[in-house]
Amino acid sequence: MPIVWESKLDTGIDVIDAQHRRIVDYINDLEAAKAKLDKRLVNDVIEQLIDYTQSHFGFEEEMLEEAGYKFLKPHKKVHELFIRRVSDFTLRAARGEDIANELHSMLSKWLLNHIANEDRDYADTVKQMVGNTKGGGAAKDEKQASQGFISGLLGRFFR
Ligand SMILES: [Fe+2]
Repeated sequence: MPIVWESKLDTGIDVIDAQHRRIVDYINDLEAAKAKLDKRLVNDVIEQLIDYTQSHFGFEEEMLEEAGYKFLKPHKKVHELFIRRVSDFTLRAARGEDIANELHSMLSKWLLNHIANEDRDYADTVKQMVGNTKGGGAAKDEKQASQGFISGLLGRFFR
């Protein structure tokens, strides 16, 4: 069953929610590719998904640094552990093992849990910076500066 986006996955930060939705799309693409028994497509999707998730983590970490998020260090650690887990899978795949099912179930559990919990935790700190909350938030020129920062980051991590 494809994952359906739920509001508990929303951080309320547009730029992040868009990236998270894209990750969910990739997980669903992986499921569809598996169902077609198309090995090549499965491998392509896995590669894109991992690549995109890594860019997303990089983006997120820089954004959290800029926002002065106090749990950045443990958050980075969690990203690192995830990347390590994923590389175990890719090593096994390189040895010819069929890891698609296991990887799919790990990704859907791990990433959704991370989005709904750890990522949600930084939402308030980041919203203060980007000021895209209704009322409150940063002053206008600060908002512009942080939006400039965000678009610069997007350019760096996603080409
Ligand atoms: Fe994260």
